[in-house]
Amino acid sequence: MKRCDQTAAWAALKGHFEAHGRQLDLREAFDRDPRRFKTWSFDSPGVFADLSKNLIDAATLRFLLDMAQECELAKRRDAMFSGEISNPTEGRAVLHTALRAPRGTALHSEEVHSVLDAMLAFADQVRAKPEITDIVNIGIGGSDLGPQMAVLALQAYGQAQQRVHFVSNVDAHDIVPLLQQLRPASTLFIIASKTFTTQETMANAHVARDWFMSQGGQDTQQHFVATTTNVQAAADFGISTTFGFWDWVGGRFSLWSAIGLPLAISIGSKNFRQFLAGAHAMDLHFAHTPPSINLPVLLGLLDVWYRNFHGFTSRSVAPYHQGLRRLPAYLQQLEMESNGKRVDLRGATLPYATSPVVWGEPGTNAQHAYFQMLHQGTDVIPVEFIAIKTPSHTLSEQHQMLLANCLAQSQALMLGKTAAQAAAEATTDPQPTAAKGLDAAVLSRHRSFPGNRPSTTLVLDALTPHSLGALIALYEHRVFTSGVLWGINSFDQWGVELGKALCNALLPRLQSGDTEGLDSSTAGLLNRLRA
Ligand code: F6P
Repeated sequence: MKRCDQTAAWAALKGHFEAHGRQLDLREAFDRDPRRFKTWSFDSPGVFADLSKNLIDAATLRFLLDMAQECELAKRRDAMFSGEISNPTEGRAVLHTALRAPRGTALHSEEVHSVLDAMLAFADQVRAKPEITDIVNIGIGGSDLGPQMAVLALQAYGQAQQRVHFVSNVDAHDIVPLLQQLRPASTLFIIASKTFTTQETMANAHVARDWFMSQGGQDTQQHFVATTTNVQAAADFGISTTFGFWDWVGGRFSLWSAIGLPLAISIGSKNFRQFLAGAHAMDLHFAHTPPSINLPVLLGLLDVWYRNFHGFTSRSVAPYHQGLRRLPAYLQQLEMESNGKRVDLRGATLPYATSPVVWGEPGTNAQHAYFQMLHQGTDVIPVEFIAIKTPSHTLSEQHQMLLANCLAQSQALMLGKTAAQAAAEATTDPQPTAAKGLDAAVLSRHRSFPGNRPSTTLVLDALTPHSLGALIALYEHRVFTSGVLWGINSFDQWGVELGKALCNALLPRLQSGDTEGLDSSTAGLLNRLRA
């Protein structure tokens, strides 16, 4: 098993980057090749991708594909699908794909489908109860971000009479204002935690239960359910209705398991099954399509190209759909918790960079915040636009404005504007430059755009349960692809442990004021916060 830097393709790509890749100019590339859009756009189930505005050419792709082959991407993918240990530092298989496979077609099918059937039957029962007006999911990380993102994205499929809330933060400013709006008799709490030990979730679960009792709530069994792999801990907490899942489902990949219960309640069982079907369609695409037209593979390779050859440190995600406003936050966990690693599978320190910073906000809001930097800042940041052809509202003019904005941004990033063009435009300014007391040449430099800034545009026909499932699975497999090339374990998250342990040690000190043996900064801050 080779790491990307140990392949012949890596050296070839370095040479290619120095000779051609660094200088590639998108404007020239489009001028040279009228078929560029056609060549570089790809269809996958539910998701169309235009990669033509990326800094790539045929040679780049050829070397990247060679690298994937040398790193045995296909073998590693097949090993994951067939339940081999793909998370070696935790000794676990990685089988979130089995959660969305039709009955009888993947490993663990019987157990998966019996929990799924029970969970969906429960979801439909809750939907049919007019007396339940509020569902509160208490969970954090993968037990929060996925269902929250998806419930918002698929709001058009939700029912207005039932609100779904998400409480995650140990900061009680999260739960307290929410509880003030609720009544015990009309509230269902879902305690969502793979481990059922997470500090934040357990603290909020206790607050919720205390509130329920103190407000005269009757029958906690009817108003608290759990989604967890730790059924015993849920029972010890006093919950008897539990929907389980398994250690081969990573937290950030658990949306397809019982952790999806809030989504299932929101959109109903039929739609939830469509959501799983969309993801499964993408699984089949990833498993069976040749690498050169395999969208998750191509996106993962592009991530390696940008991170390790161009040296780009981040990627910005701009979903042009308000419902996808939590997608960037969801992707931060998916990508950065998975691939934010600095040693390879054998424990050797990596000589190259791994996960980029992933960040973003929905368009068009993002345009009025940080797009200035994307267009004219000193860093080149590849942008990923997500456009939805058909909206779920009927305000078509507004939708046209949204789409025009989306297209304009990727066009502007690519085309840019020279100082000469800016100067020519300035002649039509209502207020002549001289009147502002400015040198025209200076001003036109401020008003010029370098252009040649890369972007990808993903297009969905509509934001449906099926297409959202496909989109999320696309991201999962893309992260897997870059993780394989980087030679890392994308499925553990040891980096969150140290802070948790230190927090446990500091909590009693914050209560007692004991600062003995602490570094002076931590001691000083602790005293300041206690005073
Ligand atoms: O702290 C990180 C993490 O372990 C994530 O990987 C996980 O999604 C989150 O905490 C929540 O964990 P749990 O579902 O066990 O409460």
